[in-house]
Amino acid sequence: MRKKIVAGNWKMNTTLPEAKELAIAVAEKSAQVPASVGLIVAPPFVNLNCVGHKLEGSRVELSAQNCADHTSGAYTGEVSADMIKAVGCKWTILGHSERRQYYGETDEKLVVKTRLALEAGLGVILCVGENLDEREAGKHFDVVTGQTKAVLYNFTAEDMKNIVIAYEPVWAIGTGKTATAEQAEEIHACIRRVIADKFGAAVADDMTILYGGSCKPSNAKELFAQPDIDGGLIGGAALKADDFIQIALSF
Ligand code: PGA
Repeated sequence: MRKKIVAGNWKMNTTLPEAKELAIAVAEKSAQVPASVGLIVAPPFVNLNCVGHKLEGSRVELSAQNCADHTSGAYTGEVSADMIKAVGCKWTILGHSERRQYYGETDEKLVVKTRLALEAGLGVILCVGENLDEREAGKHFDVVTGQTKAVLYNFTAEDMKNIVIAYEPVWAIGTGKTATAEQAEEIHACIRRVIADKFGAAVADDMTILYGGSCKPSNAKELFAQPDIDGGLIGGAALKADDFIQIALSF
């Protein structure tokens, strides 16, 4: 049985006091969520340490939102996978569309980052997704297939055990527009086929594939009911502990 996961991407939100408060609330409320659902939060780098302490004793796991494409050295402003691991993270998000769009993250860089993250002992939440132009041009399957292959086909079936894929249609992120359950499901099924083509049906069947893009308490149930949607990567709604937990209760 593949793992269900609800992960909160706090993005560039929460000052230290706000992060503490949100972490305490999520940790407390997480007891309501069945153990079969993995819970992850990804605060900004600067708040990882403190949030990690606030999550102690709960089963909420800590994630970074990105990691460097080098191990250490003269790379001002960057944070390495080893640093992320040492601060208590189990995960890092990689390839979020905001990183691809605003910070020049390429598939080539993501191969390097994924390798370094796995070598550091982190799990990777790899994001893929098409933008509005690509969807309107009917290229969404090609884009998502291309992004998935370009990164993951460089890794092994063993590596796949530590990788989660998040499908995030860019046009649905932070816009209030959600992909319909059918639109999301057909892409998730496509991603699973791409994994099966290279790594076999058993690996594909075990792969957790999350949906992201204006996922909220009111639509999570319908999305999570789809056979190939194994949870969510949540942005805006993860900033309210009640909404985040409500989403995690939507399986
Ligand atoms: P959103 O963000 O839920 O605010 O649309 C999702 C994400 O980018 O992870």
